[in-house]
Amino acid sequence: MNLRSGRLGKKMSAKTAEFTSSLEFDRYIFQADIECNLAHTTMLSRQKIIDPLIADKIIQSLEKLKSEGIEALTLDHSVEDIHMAVENYVTGEVGEEAGFMHTAKSRNDQVATDLRIVLKEKVDEIQGFILEFIGGILEMAHEHQETVMIGYTHLQHAQPTTFAHHLLAYAHSLKRDYERLKDAYKRVDLNPLGSAAMTTTSFPIDRNITTDLLGFSAYMENSMDAVSSRDFIAETIFSLSLLVTTLGKICEEMVLWSTYEFGIIEIADEFSSTSSIMPQKKNPDVAEIARGKSGILYGELVTILTILKALPYTYNRDLQEITPHLWNGVKHSQEILDMVANMLLSVKVNKERCLELAGANFATATDLADIMVREKKMPFRTAHKIVGRMVTEAINQKLKPEEVTGEFLDKISVDITGDKLNLDEDLIKKALDPLENVKMRTVPGGPSPVMVQKAMDN
Ligand code: ARG
Repeated sequence: MNLRSGRLGKKMSAKTAEFTSSLEFDRYIFQADIECNLAHTTMLSRQKIIDPLIADKIIQSLEKLKSEGIEALTLDHSVEDIHMAVENYVTGEVGEEAGFMHTAKSRNDQVATDLRIVLKEKVDEIQGFILEFIGGILEMAHEHQETVMIGYTHLQHAQPTTFAHHLLAYAHSLKRDYERLKDAYKRVDLNPLGSAAMTTTSFPIDRNITTDLLGFSAYMENSMDAVSSRDFIAETIFSLSLLVTTLGKICEEMVLWSTYEFGIIEIADEFSSTSSIMPQKKNPDVAEIARGKSGILYGELVTILTILKALPYTYNRDLQEITPHLWNGVKHSQEILDMVANMLLSVKVNKERCLELAGANFATATDLADIMVREKKMPFRTAHKIVGRMVTEAINQKLKPEEVTGEFLDKISVDITGDKLNLDEDLIKKALDPLENVKMRTVPGGPSPVMVQKAMDN
């Protein structure tokens, strides 16, 4: 079927045809386009808009194409897009009667429908992967409820926590990423078909039939909106951008934690590289590449928004240019997710090093101050000052946290408040011990093994 033989006299040059064709990235919607045509033709037949015998012939050839696959199509750029390629195939099979398939349908509502069909599948797949990843993280967390490690603020030692608590932070962030996609899915799951070019049609189509046949939850209420809106793409790519941001942060920590200086994890060999000159090297290239690739999503998001910006209603061909960025974003998020999940779940955790760092640098100081507040009814600010001074003194005198005594604290307290603290030595030791410290944090959301277990049960 040559679309140009009616209104237009001259052919496009090959260069122009290639410039305007969407065939290359229409591969993604090949199957969906068949489904869309099948549903539309079935509806036309049921509504007696076209002859059921012709409809059957069209349906048979579409089924044949489905089993033969995209290779059965003639895909040169003069064809413009996948919709024309499919129509040409059906015409080749059933002759001119194939033209009835296009009654009350435009490529404008068709492409929007196809994109939504495929995107629903992709979002669903990604949601499944996220849930699997969260499941793996929970299993890993189970083993590390008592693996005490240092937590950071400003990338400086802050307070002890556990590896499980840290993993749960990942899990919660991923859960929100999952929920954002689930929410976006609701708006992808709407059927534009029946909008035709922009104002529906005067044929008595039934939009409920195609909506049911294609498995959409509802049809789009306004036909002008239906053919021109791509916010469902923008918000899905935004949700994926946040997903890869979470994943990129996990990568960043894997890169840091696997350094000699941190030394708290070892990334599996399968996810590491070496150097072509330095034989000793074990490099976290996969984490770096995943972290780097997250940038692709932000680029695609901005590209999509920029194409959408200031487009007049309704369909404009600019919209076609959004599609490759959608699929590229989807592809990269799936790959990043797969890599990061498998890489994180296969790291080896060095529990001794985790504990060593947790106790090395007075990260338990907050609890020592808390004890003064509890035992001595001292204002927290005063306790903060005494402990702060104690840490400076201890560092100057090269004292380790476990070497801090009641006497040492008293000297500083007298200096600041004029009074001794007379704190029980056991209490001081307990407050300064990283594991005890973590166990005391029994507030919901905190790192104590009891609370982490509760969080995992929810
Ligand atoms: N390839 C086009 C796209 O992706 C399909 C719709 C073409 N519509 C048209 N009126 N030229 O948007």
